[in-house]
Amino acid sequence: MIEFCLIGAGFIGPVHAANIAQHPRARLRYVVDLDRAAAERIAAKHGSTIATLDRALADPELNAVVICTPPRTHAMLIEAAAKAGKAVFCEKPIDLDMANVEACGGVLRRTAVPFFVGFNRRFDPTHKAMREKIARGEIGRPEMLVISSRDPEISPPDYVAAMPFGIFYDTMIHDFDMVRWLTGDEPVEVYARTAVMLDEKTNPHRDPDTAMAMLTLKGGALAHVNSSFRAVYGYDQRIEAFGEKGMLISCNQQPTSLESYSAEGVRRDPLHYFFVQRYAKAYADELDDFIAALEAKRAPSIGFEDGKRALAIAYAAMESAKSGKPVKL
Ligand SMILES: NC(=O)c1ccc[n+]([C@@H]2O[C@H](COP(=O)([O-])OP(=O)(O)OC[C@H]3O[C@@H](n4cnc5c(N)ncnc54)[C@H](O)[C@@H]3O)[C@@H](O)[C@H]2O)c1
Repeated sequence: MIEFCLIGAGFIGPVHAANIAQHPRARLRYVVDLDRAAAERIAAKHGSTIATLDRALADPELNAVVICTPPRTHAMLIEAAAKAGKAVFCEKPIDLDMANVEACGGVLRRTAVPFFVGFNRRFDPTHKAMREKIARGEIGRPEMLVISSRDPEISPPDYVAAMPFGIFYDTMIHDFDMVRWLTGDEPVEVYARTAVMLDEKTNPHRDPDTAMAMLTLKGGALAHVNSSFRAVYGYDQRIEAFGEKGMLISCNQQPTSLESYSAEGVRRDPLHYFFVQRYAKAYADELDDFIAALEAKRAPSIGFEDGKRALAIAYAAMESAKSGKPVKL
């Protein structure tokens, strides 16, 4: 049994808590949150103990932490857990401050605890199949990658205010990771533009809610990522990989594939509403992969370098959007 502590019981925390609780070889031993009521809701559901961070980390029976707090707190929590000798599963991004990211990288190297960044999209079965086919050479050399990644709604105003230009480093960071992971190549330049398309009521801080980024990869291929915080038709997640021998498309998904035909036309289910539904299996599979890595004493499949590089691309995209100029990586 891998004994876990969940740190952060807000929006995504309960998703990981439920996956830990359902896993046959894991147990949610502690829940830590500054908001006691949030911790209580999860602890009561899974029979866990509410604890302070210090108490949980002092327990020799505890094996791993899952960090689901706001990004600004991540590096500090990673360091505390690593110094206590606990394996770390951390939600993206590693932190918002690159100096903190570097310092935390140093602690991870010194302590050598297993470390995993929650780029859950890597565990989506269709995206995985696309990567395998690209790696097998089915489309030949990839020439263009086109990623559409649109949310049904913007985060609450306080969340947006805490992370200006968060569309790049809190949202598109997933897509920048997908570019690296799918192509096995590294972006060397990024050019990005943003727009504010939502009204004053839904986006009172007038922070970018619409963005496009174009990346040039080391091998010469191009990648495009577009993102919006208002897809009225649901969570829109499509990837197109185009190469010299053909094309692969990872399509949108719906709760069922039922089609209903009538004189008016053909109807299908709406798209999944958001990431919790669309990537439910990916969240469960990433946790399972982390647990398998701990059991096998191998390095987790997504590491510190992956988290750091995706963040560097996101920050370069933000810099480009602000300056209006391409930025070299
Ligand atoms: N991979 C994904 O698909 C995905 C989806 C959503 C969120 N996320 C990431 O997960 C993280 C959390 O996002 P969220 O939407 O759940 O945030 P949230 O604001 O809903 O929840 C954060 C929780 O952390 C608690 N908290 C804050 N500081 C703390 C501290 N120092 N110690 C203990 N608890 C503390 C808060 O009280 C709150 O309950 C972010 O990094 C976000 O980018 C990832």
